[in-house]
Amino acid sequence: MSRMIVLFTFLGASLLGGACLHAQEKPTEVRAARKIALGRSLFRSDLLSGREGMNCASCHEPELSFADGQVESPGILGIGVGRNSPALWAVAAVESFPGPDLAARDPFAVTRALSLAERCLVPIENPLEMASSVSEALERINASKPLGLAFDQAFGRILGKVRADHLGEALAAYLASLSPPPSPYRAYLDGDREALRPIEREGLRVFNGRGQCAGCHSGAALSDGLVHAAFTDDSERARRQAERQDDLRQDLARELQRQDDFELPRTGIGQAFLARLRPTPTAGCEPGMTAPTRTQGGYDGGGPPPFPQLQTLSLWDVKRTGPYFRDGSEPRLDEALVRHVAELREVSGRREELRRRHRQALRASRGRARPALLPAWLDRDQGAPPTPARLGPGDLRALEAFLGALSPRDG
Ligand code: HEC
Ligand code: HEC
Repeated sequence: MSRMIVLFTFLGASLLGGACLHAQEKPTEVRAARKIALGRSLFRSDLLSGREGMNCASCHEPELSFADGQVESPGILGIGVGRNSPALWAVAAVESFPGPDLAARDPFAVTRALSLAERCLVPIENPLEMASSVSEALERINASKPLGLAFDQAFGRILGKVRADHLGEALAAYLASLSPPPSPYRAYLDGDREALRPIEREGLRVFNGRGQCAGCHSGAALSDGLVHAAFTDDSERARRQAERQDDLRQDLARELQRQDDFELPRTGIGQAFLARLRPTPTAGCEPGMTAPTRTQGGYDGGGPPPFPQLQTLSLWDVKRTGPYFRDGSEPRLDEALVRHVAELREVSGRREELRRRHRQALRASRGRARPALLPAWLDRDQGAPPTPARLGPGDLRALEAFLGALSPRDG
């Protein structure tokens, strides 16, 4: 029944998408529009997870700027995913994303930089998110004639079977079609110099100047797409994040034992991981839990890195996308700013010590760490990372006003 609903919704959406196309448009434009319409339906389709009510939009709600307003969204087993769902505006302007290689064995090890299309497939296999697998999602998609036809039309050829790269490409095309909601700052960038109020213009000066914000929040996404040291490993926030990572494994194991009708994926990176969390008596395992130990980013086996590796967040519509930061630890934007500035200043002030500890951690990882995903200034002998100056209450108020101008005026 639920599958029927999904298919009807899908058909409705793709027909509507088709109806919007004008006869004079070129075939490539028609295909591009079809790919976007297809990606839009897939983003809302339960076929990717195989579970009713679990799709990309469950955590990235279009009406909430593709965030969801929660500290952590619940994944398929009903437990939080350990991270805050970010807004997805202009995400296609970000060059690459740190993530697990779907061919890797540990879904929690950040092993390489992924393209947007590859990144879009990760939630399908992540045991905390959809806990399915790409190959099973493709089986479900390939079992549907109308979907097969929509893929053929979007890709402009008879595909035979839909492959993983087609699925990723359609989702990425949809995300690439999203542009941030109209806001005073966009109008300003488009040439309307009066669009910003004086205090917002003052905030923009701090953003580009003393705040050094644009050193990391740059480009069309207001994110350089790089991984930065946002705070140090001995901070309270880092300790809480590390604890949360360990708790998540315990939570998953507990839910797998409790929801014994939960079907494990048959393939994919989550498969072996989840199977280890739910040992069967016949497998000769202890009935208790043998949770795999924490792996920290690229430092697998070498102890925690001297800083949490976090990719710069986009800022479009930031006023409405709280709670803030990748751990969702700050409900208020003004307080997020105060903390962010203090944390970035601390990282910068202690960079020599962090560099030293980073080199030690690299040695201890015996070559398994992946420097490609580390902040450049830690690895090479560069100067300081972009660092905000000490900002007074007036600067912070102006910055907050400027950040407000990244949302629609009435919002
Ligand atoms: C259970 C919740 C959940 C579901 C379902 C989910 N996401 Fe996400 N998504 C997140 C969270 C949390 C992050 C941030 C991860 C991080 O900080 O490392 C994220 C990050 C992303 C990013 C990278 C953006 C960034 O700045 O880090 C993209 C792209 C994305 N998701 C697309 C998708 C797509 C496409 C789907 C469906 C196939 C999907 N998501 C399903 C929670 C979810
Ligand atoms: C060194 C790079 C860097 C600089 C400089 C920087 N940021 Fe950030 N920003 C980040 C990273 C990385 C994150 C994610 C941090 C986290 O999750 O803890 C972030 C997150 C944020 C967030 C939270 C967004 C959300 O949706 O949760 C805001 C707001 C923000 N930055 C604003 C600013 C402002 C304003 C400045 C200037 C005072 C600034 N940033 C300077 C890298 C930077």
